[in-house]
Amino acid sequence: MPRTSAYSCSECGTQSAKWHGQCPGCEAWNTLVEEAIAPGGSKRRARAGRAGSGPGLRAVGSGPRERPRPLKEVGAAPVRRMSSGIGELDRVLGGGLVPGSLVLLGGSPGIGKSTLTNMALGHMQHAGLRTLYVSGEESAEQVRLRAERLAPGALQVPILAETDLDTVLETLAAEAPHACVIDSVQTLHAGELSGGPGSVGQVREVAGRIMELAKTQGIAVILVGHVTKEGALAGPRVLEHLVDCVLQFEGERERPYRELRSLKNRFGSTHEAGLFEMRQGGLVEVLDASARFVAEATRAPGSVVLAAMEGSRPLLVEVQALVAPSELEQPRRVVSGFDRNRLALVLAILGRHGRLGTGGADVFVNVVGGVRVDEPGCDLAVALAVASASRGVPLTGTPRGCFGELGLTGELRWVGHPERRLAEAAKHGLSDVIAPVDSGADAREVATLREALEAALPAGARAGRQARAAA
Ligand code: TYD
Ligand code: MG
Repeated sequence: MPRTSAYSCSECGTQSAKWHGQCPGCEAWNTLVEEAIAPGGSKRRARAGRAGSGPGLRAVGSGPRERPRPLKEVGAAPVRRMSSGIGELDRVLGGGLVPGSLVLLGGSPGIGKSTLTNMALGHMQHAGLRTLYVSGEESAEQVRLRAERLAPGALQVPILAETDLDTVLETLAAEAPHACVIDSVQTLHAGELSGGPGSVGQVREVAGRIMELAKTQGIAVILVGHVTKEGALAGPRVLEHLVDCVLQFEGERERPYRELRSLKNRFGSTHEAGLFEMRQGGLVEVLDASARFVAEATRAPGSVVLAAMEGSRPLLVEVQALVAPSELEQPRRVVSGFDRNRLALVLAILGRHGRLGTGGADVFVNVVGGVRVDEPGCDLAVALAVASASRGVPLTGTPRGCFGELGLTGELRWVGHPERRLAEAAKHGLSDVIAPVDSGADAREVATLREALEAALPAGARAGRQARAAA
């Protein structure tokens, strides 16, 4: 089928047969993106985009027109799922891979994307499903070397080392696997577009055409994508709209823990996270993360245990802080695993409502284990860790558990699932957990940051006392 290409502006949609540096419509620079045009002139991407809203949708323009009908008359077929054989991955996906769906798996180089997908296909192949691993990045030999380190099923996975999109599509159509991995979407190349592999136009075209095939044949596809230095999925911001599910694989390369998060999921919750450890034999699910993090908690000044929620699951993690006099005009604020702006806010609240100013000091905050906490409940943990570090004394009853959100007026606000957080803390031997009012009878409930500091700092180290003594 002959195809041609044209350009359209990603800002205003103006179309042009030729590429221009500046859009003829809105005059923005570098916004024209190459697109393939199917015979007849219709832009295939527009059609594919709509067809992507879920399996079971008809392509626009095919067959007789359907009348709108009340939702209750729409038969809702239960979503079928295939287990990937990796419990944590299945959970983050919402219960397994959905046939005909597209999953985008992003992460920085070396984090373990190829390992995870190779393991998943290995398990599925072993369970009797047909799989296909398309590698545009590494040679078949390189992929084999990795697979040798993994469970035996990984070596049974059929591989196609190819970067030409048409060849990949032909193979996919002929082999009709249940599940397929494209590693990576940025290495495939559609011949009719002039842009190089990985360019926005290419990535969009590659994903769009793979999606068309995946939907019609019911193939579950995992597209592996690289992440830029800024942390966005390179090029394919556009892809996030197209695919059904966006997963992000995170962690520090030097540390063994890896976290899998879902940023978008048409078939499940976006709050789930899975925890893995990179070992010699591949990725191992970490099922007792709370126990490990509590056992490893230092109990030193600046350490506190946060009872966090990772989606529907409670997780105890250690939050550490270091506060040191600064020699810089603008003292440093360094965070790992926590939002930097949120730290600024917590420090301001500590200064104003806890009488614990950190203006002249460098402040470092780290969530131990390479875990990232992304929920309001961690404010109090950061505040207590900084308070303890700043005073140079361990918190009372350490390892001390806590959770709660800080309001701008210094109040401690209720956060979701207090009962699950408290149960997890109790299970791992933490009692007297400092928590907002209405959290539960077995918590040490406090209404304000000031009360929390009074409960957690030893008597001699409280800001209020010192201030009073000085007065
Ligand atoms: P890889 O899956 O190739 O990362 P990505 O596809 O995201 O770039 O994994 C890379 C790292 O994982 C590499 O540094 C080696 C390490 N690794 C192990 O420690 N154990 C193993 O069993 C495997 C397969 C890899
Ligand atoms: Mg890889």
